[in-house]
Amino acid sequence: MILINTEASARWLRSRRFLSFPGAPGGRALRMLLFALLMCASCRRDMMDQPKAKTFSKSSFFKDGTNARPIPPNTVARGDVRLDQAFYTGIVNGVYVTQSPVELRPQLLRHGRERYDAFCAVCHGRVGDGHGMVVQRGFPQPPSFYVERLRNAPLGHFFDVITNGYGAMASFATKVEPRERWAIAAYIRTLQLSQNANTSDLPADERKKLEQTQ
Ligand code: HEC
Repeated sequence: MILINTEASARWLRSRRFLSFPGAPGGRALRMLLFALLMCASCRRDMMDQPKAKTFSKSSFFKDGTNARPIPPNTVARGDVRLDQAFYTGIVNGVYVTQSPVELRPQLLRHGRERYDAFCAVCHGRVGDGHGMVVQRGFPQPPSFYVERLRNAPLGHFFDVITNGYGAMASFATKVEPRERWAIAAYIRTLQLSQNANTSDLPADERKKLEQTQ
């Protein structure tokens, strides 16, 4: 509570000539004005005491006893509509996609390598043979990426494994963004190709260079 000496304030205001124009309010009027201002300053009470529900507080109003209301079905967070099935699931009409929905560029593969080394290499090994450090310390050994089955697996399968996990391997959906998952999937393909490439796959000038060094 603030106490204002209205008498003294009025005197001070008058002495400063703030209100010294013809017809300016006299002592009583000025005091009333100051009193009204003081009342205004203290009318917060109603707002402070209004009935309101804090998000996770108890409720005697709602049947389930909580003020947190369930999110209506099909609610989507702003900016999070995931209409592009191929991009967000790697599956279209129940079939794994075979092409990357993200344009393959050297930059994407570099990013994929960086993310792979950060998140996957501890188990799968830097080269993808399944001999990562965590495995050497006793974690179940994942299959090598170079086995026939995984070399023939569609690209969407790798995306799906990162998104949802696979057997003993946990999901990385909360740690790795969809775009990064495609980068990693593409990098795994690169690793696979690095161990199973044919010289006939090379462009002619590269093949020539290789033949010269042999
Ligand atoms: C904590 C160890 C661990 C980490 C980290 C890990 N994985 Fe795995 N991963 C495994 C194990 C174990 C399996 C075999 C699971 C099984 O068959 O039960 C596996 C299986 C896989 C498979 C083969 C699925 C199949 O069809 O057989 C792929 C592909 C794969 N992981 C990709 C990744 C990628 C990409 C990352 C990084 C984002 C990653 N993993 C991170 C342990 C790990």
